[in-house]
Amino acid sequence: MTLKLNSAGILGLGYYVPEKILTNADIEKLVDTNDEWITERTGIKERRICAPEQATSDLALIAAQRALEDAKVSAEELDMIIVATISADSNTPSTACILQEKLGAKNAAAFDLSAACSGFVYSSAIATQFIETGVYKKVLVVGAETLSKFVNWEDRNTCIIFADGAGAAVFGVVEDGYGVLSFDLGADGSGAETIEIPGGGSRHPADQESIDNHMHCLHMNGKETFRFAVKAMGSTVIKSLERAGLTKEDIDYLIPHQANIRIIQSAAKRLHLPMEKVFVNIEKYGNASAASIPIALAEAEQEGKLKKGEIIALSGFGAGLTWASCIMKWAKED
Ligand code: UT7
Repeated sequence: MTLKLNSAGILGLGYYVPEKILTNADIEKLVDTNDEWITERTGIKERRICAPEQATSDLALIAAQRALEDAKVSAEELDMIIVATISADSNTPSTACILQEKLGAKNAAAFDLSAACSGFVYSSAIATQFIETGVYKKVLVVGAETLSKFVNWEDRNTCIIFADGAGAAVFGVVEDGYGVLSFDLGADGSGAETIEIPGGGSRHPADQESIDNHMHCLHMNGKETFRFAVKAMGSTVIKSLERAGLTKEDIDYLIPHQANIRIIQSAAKRLHLPMEKVFVNIEKYGNASAASIPIALAEAEQEGKLKKGEIIALSGFGAGLTWASCIMKWAKED
């Protein structure tokens, strides 16, 4: 049984990407790769990289301020802040607490959520529960990453893909029948080693060996991730659709995690969606993990691609392994 007093949806969106652009030509100077290979195999042409003095909460702050402004909600009105990230300012306190202070959101509970690239959708599902049950009125969900600080810039398998950025959404009560209709969250910890930062935690605390072996950096089995992703991206959306009593044909627009253009195309094919109904910005921003979906969502909205009443699907996958999708009936006016 579910207790649903309100419909929960997005009231405002905002995003921020750092000014510095790193092109494929720039990466050619760092590792043995080339623009043609990166473009063909990933769809990425360039990505944004934060300044050395910028931490994840700095990116999150700008995205959050923009989302609050868009929602016409003040920081004091927020009941809860969730920051989805795998590149927190530090292990503790949470980046959400740092953000709460920077925003002046003194009435908000705050915590981080670690579900990698699925983190924004996981966090949105939590926000939805609090709003639907009437416990909270306004929840800020932010996906923010500074992955450039967790990349081994000698590893061509990862440094061509990962990037920095932040996207934010303010959740609140929306018109009945609009907003979040359903979601699907999943995990398979047997794939924990597929994408990981193996050092710096309690399993292998920081020491000389961990530094020498780049254990504080992202390690990824690209092929394994690819195989998992092409299945997960489509099948999670199908589960969410079923829960909402909808079918593939009902989707007006898909906002997928921007990991690899070939993964996005295969998900679109599985969902019988032409690419015109799929938002893609990977060529500009690369893969900013938890920030990828909210940046794409905010950009799609700014470009007038999301119309009130349309069925919007979000779909992500990532380290854990995790996957997550959500179906919304778009509640915001253009
Ligand atoms: O947010 C979730 C996180 N991650 C992902 O979604 C990543 C999913 N995986 C991928 O996107 C792809 O697996 C990669 C882009 C990482 C790699 O592409 P791939 O098509 O799986 O390449 P591969 O590892 O099978 O390598 C194919 C060839 C190899 O050469 P040979 O053995 O065929 O001669 C590699 O050595 O390409 C070579 N290669 C490269 N060449 C130029 C591998 N990486 C590069 C590179 N530049 N960066």
